[in-house]
Amino acid sequence: MFKEDFVWGAATSAYQIEGAAFEDGKGLSIWDTYCMEKNKIFGSHTGNIACDHYHKYRDDIKLMKTMGIKAYRFSLSWPRILPNGIGEINEKGIEFYNNLIDALIENGIEPYITLFHWDYPRELYKMGGWLNPDSPKWFAEYAQLAVERFSDRVKNFITFNEPQCFIGFGYCTGGLAPGFQLPMHDTVPMAHNVLLAHGMAVKIMRKYAKSEIKIGYAPTYTFPYPASESKEDIDAARTATFEYTEEMFEGDWSWSESWWCDPVFLGKYPEDALHYLKKYLPVGWENDLETIGQPLDFMGQNLYNGWECRCGADGKPEGVEREVGYPQTASEWPITPEALKWGVKFLYERYKLPIYITENGIGCYDVISLDNQVHDPLRIDFLNRYLLKLREAIDEGADVAGYFQWSLMDNFEWCQGYRKRFGLIYVDYETQKRIIKDSGYWYRKIIENNGENL
Ligand code: BG6
Repeated sequence: MFKEDFVWGAATSAYQIEGAAFEDGKGLSIWDTYCMEKNKIFGSHTGNIACDHYHKYRDDIKLMKTMGIKAYRFSLSWPRILPNGIGEINEKGIEFYNNLIDALIENGIEPYITLFHWDYPRELYKMGGWLNPDSPKWFAEYAQLAVERFSDRVKNFITFNEPQCFIGFGYCTGGLAPGFQLPMHDTVPMAHNVLLAHGMAVKIMRKYAKSEIKIGYAPTYTFPYPASESKEDIDAARTATFEYTEEMFEGDWSWSESWWCDPVFLGKYPEDALHYLKKYLPVGWENDLETIGQPLDFMGQNLYNGWECRCGADGKPEGVEREVGYPQTASEWPITPEALKWGVKFLYERYKLPIYITENGIGCYDVISLDNQVHDPLRIDFLNRYLLKLREAIDEGADVAGYFQWSLMDNFEWCQGYRKRFGLIYVDYETQKRIIKDSGYWYRKIIENNGENL
């Protein structure tokens, strides 16, 4: 059963919905300029206007209210409030977030702020970004400003969204802004700086918060789940969740859960990963671990899919081949609700903190039907299946505090542009008209019944 005060929410991020990319003194982010490059984004789409949420946030909050959403996870655009990333403050940007927060609270919706969801200030990027040893300090300055201005009303903060993606795809494999393929001598120290930035931010946020705040962190992962309920398969899936293998090192080295979570939640890098990566870490990295491992209040986890894992003949975890025509989303992500159950169970066992699913959802090619409604049975089925598995994890002892559906509304899906739709609300980008999809009304009923009617 879901707890009585279970947090039923929906999530978005600044660059994906706000628009107003060049308005009211906002500085540029690396996504603003990446979208100006040739052949980077599907259809040369940009987030310049996106869902125009910057101007339509009041209407969007009304829709949230109609759907009975209790909590809203959004991110701040760092360059909107600090155009150069550090230094001069853009009061217009602060005003936007103040208005947003006030309107949410007036409507009984709890705000959850993510500090960084990928739109890195271009001015800091020009100074080397995460490669610069001062980058953790820059982030801490920004985090301080966020709590100074917003923590009188906002109680929950998340430092980073999916470090695996913005470092891994941004700088290792090059599929996200700024689109680099840098060597490990650069990217491992960058990842370390991100972790240190997290720890320094946590310290400074606790110091300057205007009220007692809760702080978490939101990584992502593709979770192995056991092929059967046998102890061997369960152990194999657990091992595969946290181990660091040669294959990982040879591929996108940063696609790991334990590399990004053990330092944050346990105050140490995983030994098996250090075996491969230690030589790339910056001198004196050990001295940063205490800061990186600052106590947190909760763990956020973005979780979309996973893979079936069994214990192989050699006793090691091995993947089970997917059947022909296996279910998948428009993003070609496999539909694997079991991953939510086992991911949550394994994370809770290891890190022992209350968990929020900070993102989970499905990209579809939704359409407006002749009756002017958006019928999205696939999304309803997907969410129903995943939430049932989340409930099983809770029933088996995991402490789960809340669930944020990704996404509140259709939005700019990074390199995929506006091609796929992830929202509970349909957005017509030409007219900016919104339509609550069937799934939005379905979610309302789930929230009303605290998930008992799943
Ligand atoms: C997560 C991100 O990786 O997945 C979101 O945190 C993103 O920002 C979502 O929109 C869907 O992924 P994609 O790759 O289809 O945009």
